[in-house]
Amino acid sequence: MRLKLVVGNWKMHGGIEQNQCLLDLVVEGTRALKGVSCVVCTPYPYLSQTQSLLGNTHILWGAQNVSQYDKEGAYTGEVSAKMLIDFLCHYVIVGHSERRIMYGEDSLTVALKFRAVQRVGLIPILCVGETLEQREAGITEQILAEQLDAVIELMGVDALAKSVLAYEPVWAIGTGKTATPQQAQGAHIFIRNRVLAHNDKIAAELKILYGGSVKANNATELFTMPDIDGGLIGGSSLIANEFIAICHAAQN
Ligand code: PGA
Repeated sequence: MRLKLVVGNWKMHGGIEQNQCLLDLVVEGTRALKGVSCVVCTPYPYLSQTQSLLGNTHILWGAQNVSQYDKEGAYTGEVSAKMLIDFLCHYVIVGHSERRIMYGEDSLTVALKFRAVQRVGLIPILCVGETLEQREAGITEQILAEQLDAVIELMGVDALAKSVLAYEPVWAIGTGKTATPQQAQGAHIFIRNRVLAHNDKIAAELKILYGGSVKANNATELFTMPDIDGGLIGGSSLIANEFIAICHAAQN
């Protein structure tokens, strides 16, 4: 059985004081959870603070992006996967649609980032998802396949055994428009079947998170779908009560 995973993606939000307050509440509010892993991906400058606040708790943490380059060097503004190890990160989000669309990351760049993360022993959370135009043009599956296959081609399917996938329809991110549980399940089963064509064990064990306007009041119906193994939570991860309630909704 796949255990549920709930990951908060803070994006470019935070501040020393508000982080402390939020993380203290989240630690307290999720203490009694059973069978759910909770993770927060905070901005780089706060990873040290995140480590010191969460170090002795049940909550793990990670980063939202990483350089595709492994070796240190002249890459102004970039952060390597190896640096993230210094802050005891466990997870790194790669290929978020905001990175793909606003920062021009193509699927090969995302695959290289995925590789950089795994090379240092961290777990990539690979985001895939279609835009509204792509959905309306009926090419959702083609887009998901292209984004997933770029990683399989570079790394081989075995690499997926030590990764997490996140299906995040772009039209549902930060818009308040959630995919229906059936729409999300349809995309998740498509992704799982695509991996299954290569390796059935890896497909069966692969965690596929749903992301896009998940809230306390829609999390349960999403998380009860058979191929949805938890959530990647943006806006609601900044509100302690919302995030805590979403983590509880993931409890089996
Ligand atoms: P949202 O963001 O929950 O605010 O829609 C999800 C994400 O971008 O990971």
